[in-house]
Amino acid sequence: MTSLANRLALVFFAITLGAIAIVYVGVVPTLESSLVTERSQTLRSDAERFTGPIRSALANAVPVTTIDQAVRNAADQSNARVTLLGVNRGTFGAQPYVKSDSNLRTDIGDLQFPAADTAVQSRRTETATESASSGRVVEAAVPIAFPDPDSGKPLLGDVLVYSAPLGDVEHDVTLVRDRIVIAGILALAAAVLAGFLVARSLGRRVERLEGVARRVARGDFSARFPVDQDDELGQLARALDAMQRQLAELDTARRRFIATASHELRTPIFSLGGFLELIEDEDLDEETKAKFLGQLREQVDRLGKLATDLLDLSRLDAGAVELRTEETDVSTLARTVADEFVPALAAHESRLEVRLTGEPVVAVCDPERVAQIMRILIDNALNHTEPGTDVIVATSTRATRPRVAVTDFGPGIPRQELTRVFEPFYTSDGTRGSGLGLAIAHELAERMGGELAVESLPGRTTFSLEIPA
Ligand SMILES: Nc1ncnc2c1ncn2[C@@H]1O[C@H](COP(=O)(O)OP(=O)(O)OP(=O)(O)O)[C@@H](O)[C@H]1O
Ligand SMILES: [Mg+2]
Repeated sequence: MTSLANRLALVFFAITLGAIAIVYVGVVPTLESSLVTERSQTLRSDAERFTGPIRSALANAVPVTTIDQAVRNAADQSNARVTLLGVNRGTFGAQPYVKSDSNLRTDIGDLQFPAADTAVQSRRTETATESASSGRVVEAAVPIAFPDPDSGKPLLGDVLVYSAPLGDVEHDVTLVRDRIVIAGILALAAAVLAGFLVARSLGRRVERLEGVARRVARGDFSARFPVDQDDELGQLARALDAMQRQLAELDTARRRFIATASHELRTPIFSLGGFLELIEDEDLDEETKAKFLGQLREQVDRLGKLATDLLDLSRLDAGAVELRTEETDVSTLARTVADEFVPALAAHESRLEVRLTGEPVVAVCDPERVAQIMRILIDNALNHTEPGTDVIVATSTRATRPRVAVTDFGPGIPRQELTRVFEPFYTSDGTRGSGLGLAIAHELAERMGGELAVESLPGRTTFSLEIPA
């Protein structure tokens, strides 16, 4: 019962049933009353039309047989039973009695003629219905009045009642009701079937999406979500497909990262092994030994830095790096970091100028991490330029955002490589580093809600970090 097909079929069933119930309740009861009203209207106008000859026969006091004949004629013309009632005025009020009837074979006592009573009261043509043993009957009663010879006022003489059976109205109503019920049953069956079919087709499409989602979950990124139509499910499939492509890209990037990382780790380890073998050679003179040891140290340092950087990057990726936020004067921080580079600058024969604004440049940030980014940038300015290239570290405020920029006058980065320098392991000169510095700096800047950008022309390269105030 919980399946979409069953539930939708049930909903269609309920809606159709409701609609049929509304049609039934709205049509059947009013249909009967409006048919009865119509019949009594017709009878009333017939009664008024065909009463004339009887009225004049009564006025002229013709024999009873002539009156009977006139009554029968009126019955034939109006296609109704016509009864002439005289009115007795006694102590109990006006009492009608039968004077003539077009249908002599019928027992008159069966009908009570309620219309005649009201017509006697109102002195106007009245209609009514009554239930007789043969079924319901509609009646129209016409009062026949003559002027009083003394006063000239109309004086009520007799009442002429036209009565017709309502059997055909009941028949019509039954017919319509039965038709509604039959049509309703057919509509219900059609609705249930339609609901079931629609839901089954939807269900199949959902199942197909589910199947692909399961394959993707198992790591099969070649599976495609079918975008078969442009409706909501089609849009869902399109969104899932975009998500799956993203996942596939991430997966490829992850594999590439692991492959590159292991390659980067393996190279210095092999080289370490090679040097160790060479040093173990007992015939080695002291000078060569010292040279090898120096290279050994260099490889160990490189390995150590690589391990630290990889760890940093993976912790940043995993969101495991806790960032402190405190008010920091970026200018003071820049000077402190610059001072750390005095030995490196001497080795590179470069000068580093720190250009600070007059006032403190205050940022709310993690000073440790901002210093780490500055170190990465100054390190690059020295490592990727020729010895003797000068470096400027400048702080400023740009549109209320604190900014620190590291500029060097080295060869610059080719335009087509500018977007790639922030990718992990990207280096244009593989010998000098492993290519993780800028990736870490970029990630850190983003985590702080800041931005790390680069502008480079031959002879001038600027990396700038903007952080929230
Ligand atoms: N100031 C610069 N001038 C010229 N090229 C640069 C500069 N800074 C970065 N690059 C280029 O961008 C690449 C990536 O820099 P990144 O700091 O990420 O890696 P790396 O310095 O090669 O290695 P690592 O910093 O991990 O030791 C560098 O290899 C270099 O080609
Ligand atoms: Mg670097």
